[in-house]
Amino acid sequence: MVDAPVAVIGLGYVGLPLALLAAQKDYDVIGVDADKDKVQKINSSVSPIHDEAIASQLQRTALRATTDFADAAHARIIIICVPTPVDHNCSPDLSPVKAACRGIARFLGGGQLVIVESTINPGVCEEVVLPILEATGATCGVDFYLAHCPERINPGDTQWNVGNIPRVVGGYDAASLDEAVTFYESILDAPIKPMGSLKEAEAVKVVENSFRDINIAFVNELAMSFSTLNIDVVNVIDGAATKPFSFMAHYPGAGVGGHCIPVDPYYLIEYAKQNGFDHTFLKTARKVNRAMPAFTVDRLMGARAAAKVTTPKVLVLGLSYKANVGDLRESPALEIIRLLRGKELDVIAYDPYVGSGDDIDVEVSTDLNEALSGAETVILATAHKEFLSLHPDDLHKRGVRVIVDGRNCLDKTSYQRSPLVYSGIGR
Ligand SMILES: NC(=O)c1ccc[n+]([C@@H]2O[C@H](COP(=O)([O-])OP(=O)(O)OC[C@H]3O[C@@H](n4cnc5c(N)ncnc54)[C@H](O)[C@@H]3O)[C@@H](O)[C@H]2O)c1
Repeated sequence: MVDAPVAVIGLGYVGLPLALLAAQKDYDVIGVDADKDKVQKINSSVSPIHDEAIASQLQRTALRATTDFADAAHARIIIICVPTPVDHNCSPDLSPVKAACRGIARFLGGGQLVIVESTINPGVCEEVVLPILEATGATCGVDFYLAHCPERINPGDTQWNVGNIPRVVGGYDAASLDEAVTFYESILDAPIKPMGSLKEAEAVKVVENSFRDINIAFVNELAMSFSTLNIDVVNVIDGAATKPFSFMAHYPGAGVGGHCIPVDPYYLIEYAKQNGFDHTFLKTARKVNRAMPAFTVDRLMGARAAAKVTTPKVLVLGLSYKANVGDLRESPALEIIRLLRGKELDVIAYDPYVGSGDDIDVEVSTDLNEALSGAETVILATAHKEFLSLHPDDLHKRGVRVIVDGRNCLDKTSYQRSPLVYSGIGR
């Protein structure tokens, strides 16, 4: 056992894989989470998230979880992995980070290393985290150390995982940086890049996710534009991607979801605003991407009108924000459902990754055939692998007349040759 107990605060999509990895690397790990049910499940070796790899690791890894911060008082390395959402005004909500800092502050003083892995804007470590940690009298750089190592995990990714994704680390001082780099070197099989400051490390993560949001907004805008020009945007992107340099393919879709891409840009927008800079480009990207569920529903209404469908039942295939995971946070499918209901349509959903325990205000069928019964209109909102083999002839036999492919993942040619009215996003 490595002689440096680890406490991971927040056992979600980020904290749980990290805690398991550290335990597998022979660290004595305790997880702290505010959610009693989650703690109970983890202590019973049951995964609280829909992830086969995590479920099987929990079966064979010694990991103890608790709701009580006092149980983590012995930890030498404390890693904060709590959520960083935005509120209903899209303003950053740092209350979970602050609460986690208050939870550990009373134990600091024995030279512990505190690492923040949650996604935060530049300035949070020094302006929000540090004052809370020092409030009980301990001094950073003397009594404890502080670093930031933004997590880059991509749930559902079979190639890149918590153990092999390269990381960046920023430290409060040289000692904090050294300690944090040494820790990550001991658990990761990936390069670690030390950054010049905490702020640089914080900025890396919001820049990465803003980059993605902006690029997706660009192709989403092209999709809306090319729909009016009758040009298939996917074919155009694939054509442009044949250029071997200076082009990176991104694809349009029914909206951007999850806890990161539609959220993180607001952290930079807000912090820059407080410091006198207005990020018009980031705000425009958010506006374009937030409009995609409405654009998708417009496509659906157009396709229904073209097929003269008047029956109100609409089947939404996929509820989660991305393929092959069950995460519903900020999912465009939920906004699509809200908009469909506003048009007085009856919505039923089917998602093989979303369980009956998930808190969702829509009828979710557990059987695709049953869900299809009486649904002349189908909208694919998430490209789960189970949907990729859907064939237009089978759907037609079951009475489907309209299909909107909100992820452009179906074979357009075979759908267009079929009796179904097909519509994609920009194709
Ligand atoms: N989900 C991703 O793909 C991903 C990827 C990279 C980075 N991140 C970032 O990592 C952070 C965590 O994201 P996540 O997806 O793991 O969130 P999550 O909601 O899945 O997990 C967070 C956990 O923290 C717990 N928690 C909340 N407040 C707490 C507190 N005060 N004390 C103890 N536990 C508390 C919650 O109960 C929850 O179990 C966020 O900042 C996010 O932006 C997420």
